[in-house]
Amino acid sequence: MPRLEVRDLHVSYGKVRALQGVTLTVEERQIVSIVGANGAGKSTVLKAIMGLVPVASGEMRFGDRRLDRMSPPGIVGAGVAICPEGRRLFPEMTVQENLMIGAYQRDSRRAALVLGEVYGYFPILTERKRQLAGSLSGGQQQMVAIGRALMSGPQLLLLDEPSLGLAPLVVRDIASIVQRIHARGVSVILVEQNARMALRLSDRAYVMETGRVTLSGTGQELLNNTQVQRFYLGL
Ligand SMILES: Nc1ncnc2c1ncn2[C@@H]1O[C@H](COP(=O)(O)OP(=O)(O)OP(=O)(O)O)[C@@H](O)[C@H]1O
Ligand SMILES: [Mg+2]
Repeated sequence: MPRLEVRDLHVSYGKVRALQGVTLTVEERQIVSIVGANGAGKSTVLKAIMGLVPVASGEMRFGDRRLDRMSPPGIVGAGVAICPEGRRLFPEMTVQENLMIGAYQRDSRRAALVLGEVYGYFPILTERKRQLAGSLSGGQQQMVAIGRALMSGPQLLLLDEPSLGLAPLVVRDIASIVQRIHARGVSVILVEQNARMALRLSDRAYVMETGRVTLSGTGQELLNNTQVQRFYLGL
């Protein structure tokens, strides 16, 4: 997978300066996490990478492509996909219909192939493919949301708070799903309130505070950092 490089990224929502110079890198086949308090700008980083918010200044490169000059469908076509915060499923549509939305840029033969792969990741969804998404458990809904993102065949997957609101046992499932996706050669940016889970999985991690990166290192380095332990791990 190409390397992702975000350099000196600034994003504002009107007067709110959400990102004030964020720089981060995802090397080939890495899991990179972003942790930070509510409002730090984590989701905004992911939205900016997907072209979903206007970038005031800065550069984003994915391999030799400039993401900051591309449209969201172009970015998906380049191999980046997002599983958004809050899952954003269509509750009145079936599991399979929700998954197929992620393949809207692909021809039907290719979509059918990837659908098989996604059901391979999530066997429980095969049994539930005709069930309405809104009637699934929270953990199953999260699987559909991740599966939908995988339907575009990404090389880089952006996951925004996949464990939010899920029971501890299900959080473990999500962690193992992230590892399985990574094992198949997909890089991942993981935004998590559950800093412990995220840092344990990560090759590299960034701590954000009010629109800036304040700390970075390997997952293990941040797990050992006393500041991180106090503010994000509750030790
Ligand atoms: N659409 C918007 N309009 C105005 N301000 C926004 C908008 N989206 C986000 N913001 C503001 O931008 C800042 C960063 O928000 P962002 O959602 O990126 O934070 P976050 O780190 O993902 O927080 P959380 O942990 O709560 O999801 C916050 O101050 C937020 O209030
Ligand atoms: Mg967020």
